[in-house]
Amino acid sequence: MSLFITLEGPEGSGKSTVAKLVVAKLETEGYKIVMTREPGGTPISEQIRDVILRKENTAMDSITEAMLYAASRRQHLVEKIYPALKEGKLVFCDRYLDSSLAYQGYARGNDVEEILAINKFATGGNFPDLTLLFDIDPELGLKRIASNKGREVNRLDLESLPFHHRVRDGYLTLAKKYPSRYVIIDASMPLENVVEVTYNVIKERLKDK
Ligand code: TYD
Repeated sequence: MSLFITLEGPEGSGKSTVAKLVVAKLETEGYKIVMTREPGGTPISEQIRDVILRKENTAMDSITEAMLYAASRRQHLVEKIYPALKEGKLVFCDRYLDSSLAYQGYARGNDVEEILAINKFATGGNFPDLTLLFDIDPELGLKRIASNKGREVNRLDLESLPFHHRVRDGYLTLAKKYPSRYVIIDASMPLENVVEVTYNVIKERLKDK
């Protein structure tokens, strides 16, 4: 029983922390899970990640950026996600194609249909079964990041507040566009509540399998 789940949201939504806790719970119930992240997830994709997120790379063109994310995605899909799904595992991917639509499309102001086209090419049109949108006001999200001293700041974190608002609004537009795979989770709730809601949404989806 494979299921491809992606986790999306603006900076500081806490999605990675929530996912770790939910995955640990599901594993105790016997589910076989692969937890991975984008950009990255395999050695080649991690090398591409390094180029994309390096703070000094301020000269990077936004289409170059979109294509690098798509290249990293392709490698990750072929090397890690497809094999895990074939083995009947649940795949949790921290960010996927919708991040490119929200960040490189809506927030950077590139044509969203063109970003989608690049990503359809990169993924063979492989959309996730379930996309969890951890929705949060960017002001709150960025405050959370600022108070999390252990977290490394990357090139995208340094974008302006209006940029992060466009990311959020972009995600909300995507949730309307793809209602059958999207579930919006209020990430401003206390962590334990977000974990509980997330767990319940996934269990509900697994019932249909
Ligand atoms: P990361 O430190 O993994 O951030 P987070 O914890 O927020 O997931 O950095 C990934 C950054 O890359 C993040 O700012 C979002 C951005 N991103 C894109 O702009 N487009 C994409 O397609 C992906 C996958 C990520």
